[in-house]
Amino acid sequence: MFEEGQYFAPVNTDADGTVVVELGETHPGFADAEYRDRRNAIAALALEWKPGLPMPTVDYTDAEHEIWRLASAELAIKHQALASREYLDGSERLKLPADHIPQLHEVSELLEPLTGFSYMPAAGLVPLREFYGVLADGRFHATQYIRHHSVPLYTPEPDVIHEVIGHANALAAPRFAALYRAAGDAARRVHSEEALEFVSRVFWFTLEFGVISEGDGLKAYGAGICSSYGEIDEFRDMTILPLDLVTMGTIDYDITHYQDKLFDAGSMDRLEDVVGEFWENCDDDAIERLKADAA
Ligand code: TRP
Ligand code: FE
Repeated sequence: MFEEGQYFAPVNTDADGTVVVELGETHPGFADAEYRDRRNAIAALALEWKPGLPMPTVDYTDAEHEIWRLASAELAIKHQALASREYLDGSERLKLPADHIPQLHEVSELLEPLTGFSYMPAAGLVPLREFYGVLADGRFHATQYIRHHSVPLYTPEPDVIHEVIGHANALAAPRFAALYRAAGDAARRVHSEEALEFVSRVFWFTLEFGVISEGDGLKAYGAGICSSYGEIDEFRDMTILPLDLVTMGTIDYDITHYQDKLFDAGSMDRLEDVVGEFWENCDDDAIERLKADAA
């Protein structure tokens, strides 16, 4: 079962108002006091933000920009070979900066004219219903901290590289943007926690970790694969399953390692027919029926 605490380090506020991000012992930045201070300061910015206020800007250090430059350069090469056509088209339209970490308002300025999506800050975990729900309005919650310099190729905790390089390139492509919006509609339509969990797992195995067959082989379109230059090298060796709603909606996954089960959408048309259609029409009963029919 998906454990919220593992996904993002919990963010707490001390009695004196200091924001503290509780990095676990196994977090690569756990013993790095400077990194922890940075995480606390960046989380505090997001917590202070309210809709209507200008987006918080982070004064990134050169060392932080350097992690972005490295990951951007590595990912740009790997995307050419291993990212899906639609995703690459999105990245060509968006043209994210490779030389500095963009502020979230910069990302929004690039993205809004393309598909209407804009970013807003998140300190850490955003409740599922809120995170997915606002996708329906073309809004995307993003963290602003960057992964620890010791693990540029993969992090178990979504950071600005994942949020921006992973997701914004997809959000810049109209067909993916429509799927993100449909996921948001679905999250707003379902009532039970089980149904929301089902919607969220389908999102996980498609928009986060989806792969798709193309003429020259299996390609990635999921943001979680497309933001990790470690994972993107290995997805073709994983167990590749056919796109199936009930399987995606019910199987467990471990969020701390490379995903070992991936679902091949087959084609963009099929992804839209199966997953887009599901999100556009689902409700609690439809999900119950799907599960019952499969049992
Ligand atoms: N592993 C991803 C990366 O290195 C980031 C990430 C962490 C992630 N947790 C995730 C992506 C959950 C998708 C879903 O870029
Ligand atoms: Fe993500």
